[in-house]
Amino acid sequence: MAKDKTLYTCNACGATSPRWLGKCPGCGAWNSLEETVAEPTAAAGGKNRLGGAFAALAPSAGVRPLAEIEAVDVARTPTGQGELDRVLGGGVVEGQVVLIGGDPGIGKSTLLLQALDALQRAQLPSVEAPPGRPKAAKAPGTGAAGAAAPPGGSAAGEAAERGGMLYVTGEESGAQVALRARRLGITGSQVAVLAEIQLERILATLAQQQPAVAVIDSIQTIYSDQLTSAPGSVAQVRECAAHLTRWAKASGCAVVLVGHVTKDGQLAGPRVLEHMVDTVLYFEGDTHSSFRLIRAIKNRFGAVNEIGVFAMTERGLKGVSNPSAIFLSQHAQPVPGSCVLVTLEGTRPMLVEIQALVDTGGPSPRRLSVGLERDRLAMLLAVLHQHAGVATGDQDVFVNAVGGVRISEPAADLAALLSITSSLRGKALPKGFVAFGEVGLAGEVRPAPRGQERLKEAAKLGFSVAVVPRANAPKKTDKAFEGLSIHAVDRVDEAIALVRGLD
Ligand code: TYD
Ligand code: MG
Repeated sequence: MAKDKTLYTCNACGATSPRWLGKCPGCGAWNSLEETVAEPTAAAGGKNRLGGAFAALAPSAGVRPLAEIEAVDVARTPTGQGELDRVLGGGVVEGQVVLIGGDPGIGKSTLLLQALDALQRAQLPSVEAPPGRPKAAKAPGTGAAGAAAPPGGSAAGEAAERGGMLYVTGEESGAQVALRARRLGITGSQVAVLAEIQLERILATLAQQQPAVAVIDSIQTIYSDQLTSAPGSVAQVRECAAHLTRWAKASGCAVVLVGHVTKDGQLAGPRVLEHMVDTVLYFEGDTHSSFRLIRAIKNRFGAVNEIGVFAMTERGLKGVSNPSAIFLSQHAQPVPGSCVLVTLEGTRPMLVEIQALVDTGGPSPRRLSVGLERDRLAMLLAVLHQHAGVATGDQDVFVNAVGGVRISEPAADLAALLSITSSLRGKALPKGFVAFGEVGLAGEVRPAPRGQERLKEAAKLGFSVAVVPRANAPKKTDKAFEGLSIHAVDRVDEAIALVRGLD
């Protein structure tokens, strides 16, 4: 196939150059030229002769008043992984493009292979179906995906009807994928595997196979013939993802792109694709612990506040449907510098231990936080100084959310603050202690969303003392809070004094 011409286009102003230049000739930006495939000349000409060239073209027939367009509910196909479905908003949607990002080794390939296999089994009931999953077999999207696929030539007829699952691996050989499947206990799987990294060949296979769901593992290993830059470069990643997205939209095949999050900038990270795809999921968690979280960052087909929780086991990832207590470390006795936070992830409350260590610092004391925002930590220390008279200016302060969870909600403030004061005093908080609440710059403790649910979860798990913002304290007694003594506070100094009183 003849190569299309490539051009270098400025990503700031759109100016083009036939060669790479360090400085854009149009806007003068540095290092902004990226390799792109040149548009066919007709389109390029049209750009400059607005009206002239376009007037001759037939207008698109698709203009209709919004009121006349029927809002069709999207058909979702559950993936067989309850926790994955939860973040997807119920399952995969026809033509959906999902990007799954995460550190290497976190379990992206494992999860997707498990999900593809479950989907394939649900779709082909003739192949021995795993017990306990009857609902996926009659999911509305299951048949529709195949039916909506465009006619792909009679040779692909059977595949088109079935709309099977395709796993494209650019990182491993087919044998390695088979080894992983064996480890996962998957036998007799009908998932189609293609070890290929060239985009054009992948697209040809997709056209021939007409799968219902295709996984590209990973987008950073795929390259297009049309560009000379290396696989994994921004230009290649974008170009390949754009082609695959177009394919998904045209064919109804759901495409899942795997993207490694990279720290050294050698590979283009998944962030460059976020705007292109329908759904962005990030895998997070500490590779040293067995728990993994999947968080939806963007979802055109569902809510973004849900998380899925998995445990990595010897036989792959298993969903954790009741994760509220997994991020607590099991201290026999309360220890200084530890405070349990009730956080809310999507619709589920979770208890996470926040640990703090305050230590004598050097000339420039350090503030480090893992799992919590560092800027927020600096702010909390300032509030602590100004409004509670607790100075940490000459101390190193380290804060950590146990278990590799990342907490972004401000309701973590009060727990972080109380763990810091606990470490500073060298005194543990009482046994069975929980806290939540946002801390404001004026030293006030602000309410957290859905406080009652958080308190109910803490009571359910046997916690006995809670310090919460005044507005979150229940107005009337409820059996659900039994065993939990709830203390309402308005200000940071009040909370600290209250905790001292509990000693
Ligand atoms: P993998 O899915 O290959 O990660 P990614 O595709 O995100 O790079 O996960 C690999 C890790 O998971 C590896 O360290 C081994 C571990 N693992 C298990 O613990 N149990 C299993 O059943 C499998 C298949 C992998
Ligand atoms: Mg992988």
